[in-house]
Amino acid sequence: MNAKPDIEHFLANCQESVENDTFIKLTLSKPTGEEPDLKNVYVRPVEIRSQPMLSFTLRYATKDITKNYSIEEAIGIVSLWLGNTFLNADLLTTTADFTLVFNKKRRAKLLRKKASQQELPEKTHNRAKRQFVNPQSAFLNQLGITNQKGEVLKNSQRKFRQINKFIEIIDSLLPEKTKKNKFKIVDVGSGKGYLTFALYDFLKNTKHWQPEIYGIELRKPLVDFCNALAIESEFKNLHFVAKDINDFEVEKLDMLIALHACDFATDIAIAKGIQSNAEIIVVAPCCHKQIRKEINCHSEMNAILKHGILEERQAELITDGIRALLMEANGYKTKVFEFISTEHTSKNLMIVGIKSKPNPEALQKVESIKTAFGIGVHYLEKLLS
Ligand SMILES: C[S@@+](CC[C@H](N)C(=O)[O-])C[C@H]1O[C@@H](n2cnc3c(N)ncnc32)[C@H](O)[C@@H]1O
Repeated sequence: MNAKPDIEHFLANCQESVENDTFIKLTLSKPTGEEPDLKNVYVRPVEIRSQPMLSFTLRYATKDITKNYSIEEAIGIVSLWLGNTFLNADLLTTTADFTLVFNKKRRAKLLRKKASQQELPEKTHNRAKRQFVNPQSAFLNQLGITNQKGEVLKNSQRKFRQINKFIEIIDSLLPEKTKKNKFKIVDVGSGKGYLTFALYDFLKNTKHWQPEIYGIELRKPLVDFCNALAIESEFKNLHFVAKDINDFEVEKLDMLIALHACDFATDIAIAKGIQSNAEIIVVAPCCHKQIRKEINCHSEMNAILKHGILEERQAELITDGIRALLMEANGYKTKVFEFISTEHTSKNLMIVGIKSKPNPEALQKVESIKTAFGIGVHYLEKLLS
């Protein structure tokens, strides 16, 4: 039996559904390993400059890459992948669901089922531009981000984009549903509370969950301001506490976040997250002084690290790389990525940890890196010992 017609039918269904506007999504899975680390590909329809296109999200082990293609290009790429890079393809349209499966001999079989979904995705909204934070929210005006009419102030545009991006990332990390009554979060070094308020509002008013959020912040005037604003906003389970994160008593958390907590305050935050058995840890480190002072390299790297700026960047890489490894050793799957363009801020690295199994090998890797750079101790390691 020739299996090719099944592949051709599947591709024709893809093409027709995009042209007829019935295409919901296409997922390519069961990788053959032909392209290393590529786990799956998710395709959705988008409209770019009024043209229908297909947006591909290529999910690798440690990063996602998004690329947009014309329909013709997209079909060409998918046809090359089918049976070579992926052994399973699911196409959802509003009229039917199609699955193309390949057996061990890479023979294809097309299956057709009743449509499981009817709703077409939003195409005009490029997801990256979707607003997760409503500028009309009263708290944004009180925080000095918007004017009385709910328009983002000119000099707060970057901050608003950063808040929006942050909520978008958090949303992508959250479980589909939470059965629990409360979703407990601690925000370490909450500052003026921009992100804390936005996150509470998003969970409560967009997702209709029951968040319970605590902002921990050293500066009492900021804490008093934020508590008064939480009451005014009727955010009943949003509280701010004036204390040093070192004094935070560990308790079970769903999520711990720390954005731009200075130097080793980020390490304390990660340690508290691990000790609190938090399901999700999200940190965006700030300055990195501790490891820079520790580096004592007697290798060929000296020729490079004699330049202050390069030593500074190397120290950042080592600091955050070891943070991620220590999180892995302590039972978290990690992702490290830039969360906002460097044009907005240079402090744009994000480390995300999702509760998983401990990886003891990660500790050996930490040791090798420390030896290579003559580092005595990483502050997070000390906190976890
Ligand atoms: C750069 S601000 C970031 C504020 C907020 N997370 C944001 O991204 O808008 C860092 C905040 O962390 C607070 N902080 C630094 N060390 C801390 C510690 N050990 N315990 C609690 N808060 C701390 C500082 O007072 C400051 O408000």
